[in-house]
Amino acid sequence: MYNFNSGPSILPDEVLQQASEAVLNFDNIGLSILEIGHRSEWFIQVMEEARSLIKELMQLDDTYEVLYLQGGATTQFMQVPMNLLDEGETAAYCDNGIWGSKAIKEAKLFGNVHVACSSKDLNHTYIPKELSVPPHVKYLHYTTNNTVEGTQWHFIPEANVPLVADMSSDIFSCEIPFSKFSLIYAGAQKNAGAAGVTIVVVKNDILSKIKRAIPLILDYKKHIEADSLLNTPPVFAVYVSLLTLRWIKKEGGLFEMYKRATERADLFYETLDASPVFEGKVDRQDRSLMNATFTTKKPEHEKLFLDECKKNGMVGIKGHRSVGGLRISMYNAMPLSTVQAMCDLMSDFAEKYS
Ligand SMILES: Cc1ncc(COP(=O)(O)O)c(C=O)c1O
Repeated sequence: MYNFNSGPSILPDEVLQQASEAVLNFDNIGLSILEIGHRSEWFIQVMEEARSLIKELMQLDDTYEVLYLQGGATTQFMQVPMNLLDEGETAAYCDNGIWGSKAIKEAKLFGNVHVACSSKDLNHTYIPKELSVPPHVKYLHYTTNNTVEGTQWHFIPEANVPLVADMSSDIFSCEIPFSKFSLIYAGAQKNAGAAGVTIVVVKNDILSKIKRAIPLILDYKKHIEADSLLNTPPVFAVYVSLLTLRWIKKEGGLFEMYKRATERADLFYETLDASPVFEGKVDRQDRSLMNATFTTKKPEHEKLFLDECKKNGMVGIKGHRSVGGLRISMYNAMPLSTVQAMCDLMSDFAEKYS
């Protein structure tokens, strides 16, 4: 099968192999990864290696803490403002896609939201280049890659306030100065492992600045104090994330991930732009390297193409239910040959139907 799913999504073959071996016999200890205690020495080592690999890949120092939390990125939509924004205070948010809009809705439950920029006028098909960020806001939040719409920020917005980013769908896909951010979060199920765990990277100095009482399980500081073992974590999901991080490092780190991402995206978008049958949906300069959205010029071709994909073992091509159309996701683990297979199918389809 060719796996173009948007998340949960493709994982490296060797990660799947190692994860399945660990289900039967973790590290040759004679127990399954599914049955070791989360406070055992074995799992503490897994957790510590994963947390420190994240810092290493992101080149962050000890002013940052890494947490593995639960509840998906969706929980972060409320956990971020709950921990950083007091009632009556304001945070700035970029409204550039469905996930950013959801984050705004949740933030409004805790304080005021100033919309720093919006691409709603054109159905989120572009990334605004001008932002308005008043100096008094507590932080600026944006979604670095819009998984549903297929746009990506290819620059870091300038703001003299702490930066908070949802990097769920492009984390570990390129080298950026992560130290410009005060808080980063990402569901692991795209570039960082399996579903069930969310990575949160937080700079210590942004915490302890609000008066609100925070429930234990939602308090970043309590998770930090407990070395990300406040309660039972999803042991297997953390382990799969560790295997994925080890794979990224072994393959050449974020530099190599970016090189591969641009090769895949260049190949796909060149084919798309040359096609008489298909067309892209978003501004070229803002196209995502991870999620490419497109459509058929003639609506009746869409179902025919999806049928062709199915026949050829290609899955995950249907666009998100909120926007329709077509989408392929090309995360870190995807070989160039998979994108080539899609491009060949698109060319064959065009020859038949144009
Ligand atoms: C950019 C982005 N943010 C947030 C989410 C929501 O993540 P979760 O389902 O883990 O809550 C997704 C899911 O695809 C996403 O792509």
